[in-house]
Amino acid sequence: MELNKILAGVLVAVLVVIGISNLSDVLYHQEPLEQNAYVVEVEDATAAAGAVAAVVEDLPSLGELLAVADASKGAKVFKKCAACHSVDNGGAHKTGPNLYNIVGAAKAGKAGFSYSSALADMDGEWSYENLDAFLKKPKDYAPGTKMAFAGLKKPEQRAALIAYLRENSDVPLALPAALPAAE
Ligand code: HEC
Repeated sequence: MELNKILAGVLVAVLVVIGISNLSDVLYHQEPLEQNAYVVEVEDATAAAGAVAAVVEDLPSLGELLAVADASKGAKVFKKCAACHSVDNGGAHKTGPNLYNIVGAAKAGKAGFSYSSALADMDGEWSYENLDAFLKKPKDYAPGTKMAFAGLKKPEQRAALIAYLRENSDVPLALPAALPAAE
């Protein structure tokens, strides 16, 4: 009799355990989702790349920027330069050379200023393109230059500044020829 009671007790215990696990299965069972609950929209990668390329292509060229550049804005930008440069006719050299007539002038050509060899060894003139590249990051354009100036990142700012420098001249250099009209 005792043995029967024990066996019955064990049996009940087993049934209870099985019952509970089935019950929790019923309560918590989930079908796998067919789709992520949060769908992240990813634009077609090639379309996105194309859009970027189009924007890059649409950036105005230096010629286009100069055509609409505002020299009076450039005068304001020149305040960043004025600690080291004068720009008036006959102005004194300071830390940097006087910049009157600089657009179109020979590089490192101002009499009475002692240039670094980085600049003195450069050939050619300060064309619009050259000046734009130099002012963007002097140390990239002329490694070793003693012009301690980080550069101007914004193309519009550089164009305005160059337009201002251009006006401070006996005979302002002609602006770059208009671009061929788009077909
Ligand atoms: C901290 C002083 C300093 C500042 C600020 C500075 N420059 Fe200069 N700049 C110099 C020095 C020094 C040189 C000569 C560099 C050399 O010999 O390597 C120079 C050279 C130049 C030259 C070449 C001149 C030539 O005869 O070939 C140009 C152009 C020029 N600077 C324009 C600018 C403009 C524009 C700015 C303002 C955005 C500016 N600089 C800001 C110190 C400065």
